[in-house]
Order: sequence, then C-alpha cells, then structure tokens
Amino acid sequence: SREKGIIIAVDGPSGAGKSTLSKLLSRRLDYLEIDTGAMYRAMAWLARESGLDLNDDAAVRRFCSTALVELSLCNGATRVLANGRDVTGEIRTPEISMLTSRISSLAPVREAMVALQRRMGAKGGVILDGRDIGTVVFPDAELKFFLSASAEERGKRRFLELQAKGEQISLEETVQSVIQRDRQDSERELSPLRRAEDAIPIDSTGLTIDEVVALMEQAFHERTAGK
Ligand code: DC
Repeated sequence: SREKGIIIAVDGPSGAGKSTLSKLLSRRLDYLEIDTGAMYRAMAWLARESGLDLNDDAAVRRFCSTALVELSLCNGATRVLANGRDVTGEIRTPEISMLTSRISSLAPVREAMVALQRRMGAKGGVILDGRDIGTVVFPDAELKFFLSASAEERGKRRFLELQAKGEQISLEETVQSVIQRDRQDSERELSPLRRAEDAIPIDSTGLTIDEVVALMEQAFHERTAGK
C-alpha cells in the first residue's frame, strides 16, 4: 500500500468538469492534480509553433523525442510549460483545442505523454484527469470516475469560459465543436474515450460543482476506509 495516498483517475468528455472537479478534490485531499489534457495541449502548442507536419511520421517522432512538457506548481496554481515557456493561458483557445484533439490521436505523442504521466503519478497521492487514465495510463488506479454531462450543458460551460476570456465565438459554435471533439476523441483508434468498467459514472447535468465534489469525496472515503 502507498504511504502517500492512492491514484485517482478522472475521465470523461470535454466540458464534463473534469479539471475543475479534480482541482477541488485535490485541494480537499491534499493530493497532486495532473491535468493530462493540458499536457496534450502543450504538445499541440509546440507543434503549431514549430510548424510540424502531422502527416510526416518521422518528423512527428523527432518532435516527440525533443518536446518538453512540464506541469509546475506556482503559488498553488498549476502552470503548463512547453520547452520551458509558460503557455498556461495560450493553450485554452478553440484553435488549440481542435489541434490537440488531432495531435492526441498520434501514437508517438500518446506514448510520450503516457510514459510521462506514469512517472508523474507513480508515487500515488495524485488525481489525474483525462480520457484514458482509468483504461490505459493507470488501469489499476484504486479509484476511478467517469464524468459526463449532456453535450448542451458541456457546450454551455465551455462557452461561458471562452466568453469570459473575450473569445469571439457563439454558443451554437461551441456546442458543435464540443460534439465534434467528442466524436474525434471517441472514434480514434488509439486509446479512445471510454469508461473503464470499474469507473464510477457521474452525470453532472443539473448538479452543482459542490454536489459533484461531495459525491467524489464520499467515494474516496468509502474506497480508502480501513486502509
Ligand atoms: O481535457 P481537454 O479538453 O483539455 O483535452 C484536450 C484534448 O486532449 C482532447 O481533445 C482529448 C485529448 N486528451 C487525450 O487524448 N487524452 C488525455 N488523457 C487527455 C486529453
């Protein structure tokens, strides 16, 4: 058994609230939060910056062997570093979202990120959120959640986030892009989004953030009771 705590996997489609909820839960449990979507986003950012041709297999492999992605804690907030540069704000745009969905379907990219995520989470006391944590990265994670919500609700949440940042995008466009990304993420060949059999499903449509965190925390205490 781990001294520092268990591994918690949080998977689900975009806009299901994974990173918000994982952040809140990690604070309550004093766990480390690892936003794996942010890591794929940083890869997309680097790929765009270097003008990488995603169809050039050899170039993609070279890119993966040199790209450096890090998550670093800074005053309690996680910063995302790409080749040492802070890209935390720049990776949350609709353009990077779409590019990330494409780049995350490439084998060399997944291999590099999964290896890194396993190293980062190996000691336990961590919450990883993504699409394939409970199925691929840590299939033996002690506690797994699969978060979902209706596409309309998830699109609305993303829309409000983007609007708050001043992005010029409509609600309709945001919902459509959420649906398109879901399809890409679920239908890809490598590590498609799916619920691990032993993951606890939570549909957050109509629930508040506090209600969902409470459900997750309760499941954590049930899972770790007597250990
Ligand atoms: O959670 P997010 O929206 O930041 O994820 C961005 C993209 O990265 C999403 O389209 C799917 C992909 N992703 C993935 O393939 N595997 C993960 N573990 C996390 C994200």
